[in-house]
Amino acid sequence: MQILARGNWSGAVGFILAAMGSAVGLGNIWRYPYITGQYGGAAFILLYIACVFAVGIPLLLAESLIGRKTQRNPVGAFRVLRPGSEWVVAGRLSVVSSFVILSYYAVVAGWVLHYVYLSLIKSFAGKSPQEIATLFTGMIASPWLQIFWLMVFMLLTILIISRGVSRGIEIGNKIMMPLLFALLVVLLLYAIQTDGAATGLEFLLRPQWQKLSPTAVLEALGQALFSLSLGMGIMITYGSYLSHQSNLVGCAFFVAIGDTLVAILAGFVVFPLVFSFGLEPSAGPGLIFQTLPIAFAQLPAGYWVSLAFFVLLGFAALTSSISLLEVVCAYFVDEQRWSRKKASWTLGIVIFLLGIPSAVGDDFLEFMDGLATNYLLPIGALLIALFTGWALTHDERREEFSAGESSAFRFASWSFLIRFVSPVALVLIFLHQLRLF
Ligand code: PFF
Repeated sequence: MQILARGNWSGAVGFILAAMGSAVGLGNIWRYPYITGQYGGAAFILLYIACVFAVGIPLLLAESLIGRKTQRNPVGAFRVLRPGSEWVVAGRLSVVSSFVILSYYAVVAGWVLHYVYLSLIKSFAGKSPQEIATLFTGMIASPWLQIFWLMVFMLLTILIISRGVSRGIEIGNKIMMPLLFALLVVLLLYAIQTDGAATGLEFLLRPQWQKLSPTAVLEALGQALFSLSLGMGIMITYGSYLSHQSNLVGCAFFVAIGDTLVAILAGFVVFPLVFSFGLEPSAGPGLIFQTLPIAFAQLPAGYWVSLAFFVLLGFAALTSSISLLEVVCAYFVDEQRWSRKKASWTLGIVIFLLGIPSAVGDDFLEFMDGLATNYLLPIGALLIALFTGWALTHDERREEFSAGESSAFRFASWSFLIRFVSPVALVLIFLHQLRLF
């Protein structure tokens, strides 16, 4: 069955930027720096890099190889590779996960847009820490405000996706990703000159080997999975718009290294600012939305720093959200024969509606996040590892891997990692989430 008008990247750069855009998101900028500080600084960074190489890159490769081979959405991909088998469930799970994740991710992204607006109208200047904290609690207490920004964010996401692969996703990423990197570098140069730079960098970098507990290992693995957008069919979908000649091994390394670098550099921005003002390096959204604005209120050129920071975060969120909507759209375009326009608008609106409970009730957002990161992602990733490592034959794996890549050593290493290391690591993460050990 030939799929018509699916779209394609203009080249490997389009794929790399889009995959990196998906990977670099809210997770890199608030979560990664915090857990690094908490779990042992430089020691954790090394551990994280090991997880990216041992589990992240092999899975990223597995997903994008499946996509490139089949040129289909996640459901169609499993149907093509193992027709009539139960493996199609893995594809369906990806589509459902993307749906669920986007519904609450877009709510948090809406908060970011609100903070871009607050930065723009100079809301932080001259305010006390107490008043700044109230800006956040006030926003959380106002369902209409959150629904409004959720709607704006979903509209932006839909507009990009409805334009298609090369005219929408690729152009969007080609504009936003370089701007994101430029803003990050400017913020970095600024942050490392502040008074708290030394303390901030020490918090982040001092290796504390004694903190490398088994929990730290599983944190690092879970974060690598979430940060590289694995386990929900995004890389299958993005890989499906690639031509067979592209060198996927090179692409996967590029994406993973870029994503990790952004996470590490984000810490170099956040913690110098936090420590310059003796603020609490606490976890979660509070750090970004309540703590940093206190610093912005007092910094020289704080207006611009705050605007740059939230715009950067907005780009990071948008390039990730489009990848989630694309998974769902690709399924309806390929399998249900919907037009891209119909798919993007209908599904975007349904996701907006599904996001409303997350905007209205804080607990619901946490519930959805728990559901996604504790269950959907590890199960999705495990199924993909098992499928690639055990359901596909050695020849099938080698044939697809070898397109655009000739090293037998790399193939052997990847095969070993995807067959043995990834499944074991993913089962351990899952058992840990279930508090079974
Ligand atoms: N990888 C993104 C981040 O690190 O923020 C988040 C993300 C995007 C998670 C897309 C999951 C996803 F499907």
